[in-house]
Amino acid sequence: MRLSTVPVLVGLAGPAFASGVVVHQAGSLDSCPGYVASNVQDDGTKLTADLSLAGAACNAYGKDLTNLKLEVEYQTEDRLHVKIYDPEEQVYQIPESVFPRPSSDDVGAEESALAFEWTENPFSFKVVRKSTNETLFDTSAASLVFEDQYLRVRTSLPDSPHLYGLGEHTDPFQLNTTNYTRTLWNRDAYGVPGGTNLYGHHPIYFDHRGSSGTHGVFLLSSNGMDIKIDNTDGQFLEYNAIGGILDFYFIAGPSPKGVAVQYSDIVGKPAMQPYWGFGFHQCRYGYRDVYAVAEVVANYSQAGIPLEIMWTDIDYMELRRVFTLDPERFPLELVRELVTYLHEHQQHYVVMVDPATWWGDYEAYNEGIDRDIWSKLPNGSIYVGAVWPGPTVFPDWFHPSTQGYWNDQFLSFFDPDTGVDIDALWIDMNEPANFCSYPCADPDSFADESGNPPQPPPVRNNSGRPIPGFPANFQPPATTQRLLKRQSNDTSGAIGLPGRDLINPEYEIQNSAGSISNLTMPADVLNYDGTHQYDTHNLYGSMMSIASRQALLARKPERRPLVITRSTFAGAGAHVGKWLGDNLSTWHHYRNSISGILQFASIFQVPMVGADVCGFGGNTTETLCSRWAWLGAFYPFYRNHNGFDSIAQEFYLWPTVTEAAKNAIETRYRLLDYIYTHLHRQTKTGLPLLNPLFFQYPSDENTFPIDLQFFFGDSLLVSPVTEENSTDVSIYLPKDTFYDFFTHEKVEGTGAFVNLTDVAFTTIPLHIRAGSIIPLRAESANTTTELRKKDFVLVIAVNATNQASGSLYLDEGDALEQPATSEIEFCYDNGELRISGTFGYQTEGVIRNVTLSRILCSVFGRSFQPGIVGNEVSSTDIRCN
Ligand code: GLC
Repeated sequence: MRLSTVPVLVGLAGPAFASGVVVHQAGSLDSCPGYVASNVQDDGTKLTADLSLAGAACNAYGKDLTNLKLEVEYQTEDRLHVKIYDPEEQVYQIPESVFPRPSSDDVGAEESALAFEWTENPFSFKVVRKSTNETLFDTSAASLVFEDQYLRVRTSLPDSPHLYGLGEHTDPFQLNTTNYTRTLWNRDAYGVPGGTNLYGHHPIYFDHRGSSGTHGVFLLSSNGMDIKIDNTDGQFLEYNAIGGILDFYFIAGPSPKGVAVQYSDIVGKPAMQPYWGFGFHQCRYGYRDVYAVAEVVANYSQAGIPLEIMWTDIDYMELRRVFTLDPERFPLELVRELVTYLHEHQQHYVVMVDPATWWGDYEAYNEGIDRDIWSKLPNGSIYVGAVWPGPTVFPDWFHPSTQGYWNDQFLSFFDPDTGVDIDALWIDMNEPANFCSYPCADPDSFADESGNPPQPPPVRNNSGRPIPGFPANFQPPATTQRLLKRQSNDTSGAIGLPGRDLINPEYEIQNSAGSISNLTMPADVLNYDGTHQYDTHNLYGSMMSIASRQALLARKPERRPLVITRSTFAGAGAHVGKWLGDNLSTWHHYRNSISGILQFASIFQVPMVGADVCGFGGNTTETLCSRWAWLGAFYPFYRNHNGFDSIAQEFYLWPTVTEAAKNAIETRYRLLDYIYTHLHRQTKTGLPLLNPLFFQYPSDENTFPIDLQFFFGDSLLVSPVTEENSTDVSIYLPKDTFYDFFTHEKVEGTGAFVNLTDVAFTTIPLHIRAGSIIPLRAESANTTTELRKKDFVLVIAVNATNQASGSLYLDEGDALEQPATSEIEFCYDNGELRISGTFGYQTEGVIRNVTLSRILCSVFGRSFQPGIVGNEVSSTDIRCN
């Protein structure tokens, strides 16, 4: 029976909502009957059952599916897979080519840390931690709803739970648990507002229950969804998805780091990055021409601030068309000269590429036409939207020819000998962002979150030259005509249940852009493989990321590709790094970036992450930029980036910022091998390179909400000053021993907040956790190439039992396949230091030994005892007191 609904026009919305939105009467879902389980087969490692609708269909937001299948698999000792899907498998499932499934050890139920318990009628299931008998997930909280355009699963939770993840968002790191909705639908969001859906899709949460353990729940789904967390009717978390199947992975932990590791087993270990990628990056939108870029490089050099990587935004393009250079402002010879200069000075160059390609008669577009790779509407015509260059088309990453097209564009445009010899790549607007459907005449085709009326995209570039975005006399390119006839294999087998309303699904997720088609490609755009954007929208950025990594590899197969993207899907870290998008130059966004980097590095397994240092939109200030120069030095990806109508914010522009940045970069560079070692470890094990405090102190409840401090690696507690123009900060020190990084002064943490005063703008509070050995470069350098020639110093920060340990990973720094690597373990025990592993790595066929110049036995409370040690340190015992 279809329940009656009351059509209501949502009042506050603007054009995005104007077509009339049906709001269901509260309680209309209450009559959903749930399912009954039958034909249960259980062989000890796998359980299967048939599920059939337990009563009359409720058809709350679509059509109930009558029959489902349940498949439960004990995949590893720590991982349980629960999949509920339609027997015909018509409902959209993410292809293995985009998200390879983790391998299963098929362990027996007895070996699993988790138990799957179920009831037959109505069907519901529980996931229980066997060691404590604690229920981790319990769907009996509400009947299961599985419709063609709406799925609901609710789990009950203990009161006031500690939940993390479900991104991308700019909310507090520990999620709100009352009246809170996390919507997942990737979108372009200037100013990264809190409480809204942003660029990435990561349906994973960590549920931390203090000393009784932490577990994770991952719903492998690319469909749009609202995840509601509330405590009305008991504390619960509820998935409301507009499609896809229920494909859950439960991971047992029981430590937070254990959950991180187990999640990395599902989504893939992150990619290793080049050593130089940890250098300092400078970027801005609005460098007028190649001279302006060169001037910035020169200014950094003159100011004595190390600049490792120079970036150029879309400014380099001719009229913002991808794979072109503006002949006047960025002529090829001058760009090549700039890149040669950078390379000769051990510096690097990065430019941006967007997916949206100008819909006009030029090579990149025409080549795409020849290979038939542009996304199409169901009627077979190419979809035309509007992004920076005006009318644009979008690559269909599902098309088998798109990778070849992308590779070839890269091979020719970025040809090291004749083109722009980039060292890394920046990809953006890949949610995909889209200002409106060309010709943008329909007011409903565009609205921003405030419901503002349609605006044409920007129509001038930074040199003031007009961009022919929407000229009245615009003529579509002749070549378009050739493709208007659809290829037969595109339409015949549309994937997904037939008869769905892809444009106006009845259940409206709380997309801040309004309808799911707003400010992106329409949801009915049909991919080559017969799937629709409705189901695959959230994969777009990750698919572009994978294709771009491959294209860089096609260019330079032997080098580690460094790709920084804006839009991500679960598992993106295996391919790319990520920046947090268009923040603002505010203290709020400065603070908020910590939650962002922690989400990506420690929960989502995208460790190469950073926010725009000094802020993107609006104008920064000297004090904010000074503090941010320091905070950014502890982001894995450290880049100053700025919007084109903001005041300039290169570090050399203010004396305090200059000094802060010099100090910050010096500290970061001396620690570069330490964090590189942690990244390497994450690529092998999934253990995060950044840690929220509760990862280190899981039983200390005070740490659970902290997101203004974090651990850089395992051993360094970063506690930035967080208030505007203040020189005080209240920092939490867990019950543990710490040492001030700069003075080596011992500080006993008591599990309380302590007030630090007089923290200058040119420094940051930084503490070493007792029990750590930190390998430092003996001194910093102007480039990471020079840095790699420096000696090492070990700082040994002993704990109460006079012990400490640490490690160091060394390799050649840039090659995809390393000929030789070193993994060195340091272990200090009451005066004796043991070093295991070879202190060297191989490059260009030569073993390069690294010199350990000094050992700073910072056995605090005693005097330092520096010892000079040469290359022969491997496996040597060194007396250290
Ligand atoms: C997007 C990006 C921003 C970039 C701009 C112009 O807003 O997020 O970083 O500068 O586009 O390319």
